Amino acid sequence: MKKSYYSPASAMMSHAYDAQTEKGAVKPPLHLSSTYCFPNAETGKAWFEQAYGLEGAAEGSPGLIYSRLNHPNLEILEQRLCLWDGAEAAAAFASGMAAISASLLALLKPGDVVLYSSPIYGGTHHFLKEILPLWGVESMPFYPEDDKDSICHRLVDQGFSAKLALIYIESPANPTNDLFDLSMASELAKAFSTTQKEVKVLVDNTYLGPYGCKPLQHGADLVLYSATKYLSGHSDMLAGACLGNAQMIGKIKAMRTFLGSMLSPFNAWLLSRSLETYEVRMQRQIQTAETVAEYLEAHPAVKKLHYLGNLEEGSQQAAIFHKQCENAGAMLAFELYGGEAEAFRFLNSLKLVKLAVSLGGTESLAEHPASMTHIEVPQSEKDAAGITDNLIRLSVGLEHPEDLIRDLENAFAHLPISTSAN
Ligand SMILES: Cc1ncc(COP(=O)(O)O)c(C=O)c1O
Repeated sequence: MKKSYYSPASAMMSHAYDAQTEKGAVKPPLHLSSTYCFPNAETGKAWFEQAYGLEGAAEGSPGLIYSRLNHPNLEILEQRLCLWDGAEAAAAFASGMAAISASLLALLKPGDVVLYSSPIYGGTHHFLKEILPLWGVESMPFYPEDDKDSICHRLVDQGFSAKLALIYIESPANPTNDLFDLSMASELAKAFSTTQKEVKVLVDNTYLGPYGCKPLQHGADLVLYSATKYLSGHSDMLAGACLGNAQMIGKIKAMRTFLGSMLSPFNAWLLSRSLETYEVRMQRQIQTAETVAEYLEAHPAVKKLHYLGNLEEGSQQAAIFHKQCENAGAMLAFELYGGEAEAFRFLNSLKLVKLAVSLGGTESLAEHPASMTHIEVPQSEKDAAGITDNLIRLSVGLEHPEDLIRDLENAFAHLPISTSAN
């Protein structure tokens, strides 16, 4: 892994950009060109050989060719994205789902099996369960309480041991904040690897972001982000990213070229700008979430709070937290007494917190996972993963904690008295 002399927060304002190449502009200009002139035909040929990974091609990245392959704003962004995770290489995409789908398509082939953690973001679940089977790829879930031995036995019982190609983890999981042990996943991958196939571990680290967890340091081969969330942080764009070693990222970029799912110049520029404030936004959102979590935990209408900052010491979840997480993040979920009706009543009563899906923005957002982001997850898997009708997901933004608490208090006041513990 690459080490930078400066901390990521400091390097973010200058890394991978030389102002003297752009008339001294302090900020990288936006390059709105779809194609780039080659200095001569021989160089054009050499760059194409590199971009397509052809035999005999020179090492390293090609020069600028065409914006579906690379463009200046994408290159600056990708090098900056590597800083927080200490990754060798990164690929940026038009959305989180574009990063996830291109990575899975690049690494899997018909006959392969994916082991995935559940709960998992609804869109990823759809891709695993509805799209990949069309290409002959099966998948099997595992749950937070499963240990290595029980997962091994299930894989063997299902006849999947020779077919297991990839372990896909989302930790903390959307929407319940469940943690999955990354070093355990890496041990499982090793146990099922053979001389013919190396089982890869992919981690969707959208929820905590690199400020809260660095999966590559805990045995993951690749880390994935919906950069739509904390990395961009303003709910004004979609983006995705995949980070890891240069060889795997090269393979994924080749897939991206033909899917055409790279990030556009403007969104790459916008995301680079957002990365400059990533650390301060995270620090403030994490702090506010802690205050809001304390309030929710003590509220009689809250049956259960799902928050990484209040895990029971000595529990398996707390042990994973101490091993791989650097802070508790700013995502909360809580169960109310009652079901969907009570959850809807609460959501409909919020005023400052917006009723919308997505997360990680400057504004606080709340939603009902069972009927919104995770609507398509089959009931049996929802039950096993704890995606209940009384569960509300809350992304804590940059508002003042007292204002957020006042808004939540008002929404709780709209619930019938009978729907509280006392
Ligand atoms: C954990 C997680 N991963 C991936 C995605 C997909 O990202 P995008 O909406 O940017 O495609 C989401 C979206 O909510 C998510 O929450």
